[in-house]
Amino acid sequence: MADHDTIDRAERPSYLSYPSLEAFRPDQLAGQTALVTGATSGMGRAIAVGRGRMGAAVAVTARDEVKGKAALDGIQLDAPNAKVQLFLCDFGSLASSTSSAAHQMGKIDFDDLQSEKGYGAMRVYGTSKLENVLFTRELARRLEGSGVTANCFHPGVVRTGFGRNDQGIFSFFAGIGGVFMRTPEKAAETALYLAAAPEVENVSGRYLANAHEVRPSRAARNDADARRLWEVSEKLLH
Ligand SMILES: NC(=O)c1ccc[n+]([C@@H]2O[C@H](COP(=O)([O-])OP(=O)(O)OC[C@H]3O[C@@H](n4cnc5c(N)ncnc54)[C@H](OP(=O)(O)O)[C@@H]3O)[C@@H](O)[C@H]2O)c1
Repeated sequence: MADHDTIDRAERPSYLSYPSLEAFRPDQLAGQTALVTGATSGMGRAIAVGRGRMGAAVAVTARDEVKGKAALDGIQLDAPNAKVQLFLCDFGSLASSTSSAAHQMGKIDFDDLQSEKGYGAMRVYGTSKLENVLFTRELARRLEGSGVTANCFHPGVVRTGFGRNDQGIFSFFAGIGGVFMRTPEKAAETALYLAAAPEVENVSGRYLANAHEVRPSRAARNDADARRLWEVSEKLLH
């Protein structure tokens, strides 16, 4: 790679701290379009900025028009050369694309997928993140041979809007743990790594943390559950 193509150390955004990310050029994702959900705050916003700075055209989603427009302006300010567009939509019934180490606490009960028999916040959150890993696994299987990849990642414990408006254990941790938490920009690194690093171009169906592949829990490696969850979810959406 020519020297003039690499990002100068002084200009390098703070998120480019992994060795392989240091080689990324500002035009690394030129010609690509990134669809970033949940971009009004936290990691979604940081990922939108990061991808925009790497040259991708960025489509961001928001469910509230005023918040969405404010986010759009902020992202455009932080990634001035990027083409950023806003789409309004509510994903109330869909799982997030960011998984978590909390998936290890999850347990899927196919007879009670909506937790109608009993609700425990941590268990349900863990299960949603387990489902996230399983969906990724099944999506990757379905995309095999297409050239399209699907991966998920654990971002660490991140100082975002997450848990702030809850009453329970999430707001407790968000309150006392804030100073020890990662910034959204640091947490976004693995997502940006997955989007741009040549060495993961053909990697699919994996779970990463800190830009390294990590083995998820045994439940998250259950291909039969992954397939079943996909099929049940399809039926629920129809
Ligand atoms: N923070 C952590 O420590 C941590 C750790 C592991 C995994 N995660 C996961 O990372 C993901 C992003 O969380 P974050 O920490 O960046 O939180 P955040 O700052 O609260 O951001 C959440 C984003 O999702 C959007 N959103 C929420 N519900 C939505 C819906 N029904 N339809 C459309 N958009 C919706 C929010 O939009 P509005 O502005 O409209 O509310 C916001 O943009 C979550 O899935 C979370 O579970 C977080």
